[in-house]
Amino acid sequence: MDLAWGDERTKKFVTNIGLITSNGPYGHDIMAAEWAHHVSYNPGIIAISIRQADATHENITKTKEFGVNLAAHDQNVLSSVAGNYTGKEVDKIAVLKELGYKFFKASKINVLMVDASMNAECELIKKIVIGDHTTFIGEVVYLYPANNKEPLVYHAQKYWKLNTLVEKPNPDELDKIKGIVERFRKK
Ligand SMILES: Cc1cc2nc3c(=O)[nH]c(=O)nc-3n(C[C@H](O)[C@H](O)[C@H](O)COP(=O)(O)O)c2cc1C
Repeated sequence: MDLAWGDERTKKFVTNIGLITSNGPYGHDIMAAEWAHHVSYNPGIIAISIRQADATHENITKTKEFGVNLAAHDQNVLSSVAGNYTGKEVDKIAVLKELGYKFFKASKINVLMVDASMNAECELIKKIVIGDHTTFIGEVVYLYPANNKEPLVYHAQKYWKLNTLVEKPNPDELDKIKGIVERFRKK
């Protein structure tokens, strides 16, 4: 069955916004991808799912490398520009520079990076067509030092800022759960 964009149920997902940078047949480009996930620690691997029609898709297919810049909580404008125009028609990097965003050259791959909440440079290790998107799986070849910029949150087609911590179960609750777990432990 289909899971439609905008359906009340698919709107329950909560994600980051990966600002994906690439450089290929369409030149330097940046796009917004809510489907950008950390999927392995050792080695560090990030998966992104990109529509076949996007300039980014062609750029990465050709060059086999991409940058992942996780948008910071105050980068809603950056995300909207990256996500609402295509590099097939617009030089989004030039637009964003004009708007005051700072780009810099990646150190291990030939793309531009942008100041963000987290920056990682990836080399493509696998490309899988999954339904109406292609998942590009990239090994992290360079990870930038940590900063204290909070990530922008994407949920129900809107941008959000993290602000309320929900505590993990307290020691009493954990003890109670442990007792129940012991009763149901498989022999
Ligand atoms: C908030 C947001 C999240 C998005 N997430 C994705 C995504 O995960 N995958 C995707 O293929 N497109 C996603 N898009 C749409 C692309 O960013 C959009 O098609 C963009 O124009 C592609 O740029 P390009 O043609 O320069 O690669 C998203 C757009 C926005 C605004």
